[in-house]
Amino acid sequence: MTRRFLFVLGSARRDGNSALLARRAAEQLPAGTEQHWIDLTEHPLPDFEDLRHDSDHTRPTEGDVGLLLDATVAATDLVIVSPLYWYSVSAQTKRYLDHWSGWLRTPGLDFRATMAGRTLWGVTALADDEPAVADPLIGTLQHSAAYLGMRFGGVLLGNGSKPGDVLKDTGALARAKTFFAPDSPAPLARFSHETGAVRWMSSVAHPARATEATEPDTAA
Ligand SMILES: Cc1cc2nc3c(=O)[nH]c(=O)nc-3n(C[C@H](O)[C@H](O)[C@H](O)COP(=O)(O)O)c2cc1C
Repeated sequence: MTRRFLFVLGSARRDGNSALLARRAAEQLPAGTEQHWIDLTEHPLPDFEDLRHDSDHTRPTEGDVGLLLDATVAATDLVIVSPLYWYSVSAQTKRYLDHWSGWLRTPGLDFRATMAGRTLWGVTALADDEPAVADPLIGTLQHSAAYLGMRFGGVLLGNGSKPGDVLKDTGALARAKTFFAPDSPAPLARFSHETGAVRWMSSVAHPARATEATEPDTAA
């Protein structure tokens, strides 16, 4: 099956570090691999309106919602390119993910079955030198992939604050060269409770339950 990559850019600025890093990774894709790039700043989605339980909920066909939906269901590989904002995805990216909830309930679409088995990837830039602070973003993407029965290719991290900084992160540039070319297909995404890993987040949110928590599992 021909692979079709959709890159969804979620930065609040053009040609930022996350997009630069994603382009470096995309340069390594085999010739002929289809690439579709959509910048959510150029194609802003409206705030998600929760019409999931309305009987007249219909498939969006026009405007930026229709564009994003059509591009998403056409992609074999979906790459979320979002800077780390407040330890998670950007608001633009989050709004795109929220629209998935509408698509999941759109009659005749069967969004979950359509996306099952396809691969979700992430590319992010962050100013912090400690990559572990991106764990909430990684968890958001991994769990979203698991919910849809997708494969999860992982998240390519790069460091930088002002635009272009990431090009000085030689480790990130090296990882970009092989990011989309693992030896085997990405594994099906699993929720962290299915893998038995990582209860440390709940220990932070609920200090009284800290004794229940397992230690962080760096292999997860
Ligand atoms: C609203 C906002 C929130 C941010 N939050 C974080 C953060 O939580 N952790 C971090 O390391 N950097 C944070 N940063 C810095 C960006 O992640 C960093 O500048 C990154 O290179 C931006 O990527 P971009 O050029 O693709 O937009 C934040 C920046 C902005 C504008």
